[in-house]
Amino acid sequence: MIEYHCHILPGIDDGAKDAETSLAMIEMMKEQGIERIAATPHFYAHREKSVADFMKKRQAAFDKIRDKAAVSDIRLGAEVSIEHGISELPDIEKLAIEGTRMILLELPYRAYAKWMSEEIYNIGAEYKLKVILAHVHRYLEYYSKAELEEILSSNSVMQINNEAFSGWKEKRLAKKVIASGKEFVFGSDAHNLGERRPNWDMLKKRVKSEDIALSDGVFEKYTE
Ligand SMILES: [Fe+2]
Repeated sequence: MIEYHCHILPGIDDGAKDAETSLAMIEMMKEQGIERIAATPHFYAHREKSVADFMKKRQAAFDKIRDKAAVSDIRLGAEVSIEHGISELPDIEKLAIEGTRMILLELPYRAYAKWMSEEIYNIGAEYKLKVILAHVHRYLEYYSKAELEEILSSNSVMQINNEAFSGWKEKRLAKKVIASGKEFVFGSDAHNLGERRPNWDMLKKRVKSEDIALSDGVFEKYTE
């Protein structure tokens, strides 16, 4: 199985606080059947000096665990927060998941605005990247039905957090995405070993193995 969204890199965001936690999270993923991990620390353009600076920090965090990690296939990426003008930020395309043409974008947790869709479109079109929209089911309380429909109708890959299958409203949306025939991928969005730990064991119980296989298949489709 492939993990498309998680915060395992130590000390870079609100995810794994140190190398020990990071290694334990990866070990847990391995035990649950994960063979490839996209490590996607938060990237907030307004907090970073530059993409290059962020990538340097990300590499340093990765270097602390890379030789000891239970899963050897770890690809560096980011969870890029959609901000106004983000598609014009120099080097933004370098935050695509290593070795692929996919970039994970996170919508803001507030009322929907048209410019958000424009940024999504521009990043895809200008850099020929496939956008993955992070945890699309998390916006149910912020967006109207029509706004959510607009987001779901974009040609992005919809990322579903495993935990969506434990709440009925979110589960309904996740199932709708799966049934729609759109491309989707699963992610644990794990941040730690507690409340937000890797939860692939739960997903395997609640989702058909064919659907997990569809998620895994997306990776090769957009590999360079
Ligand atoms: Fe995340």
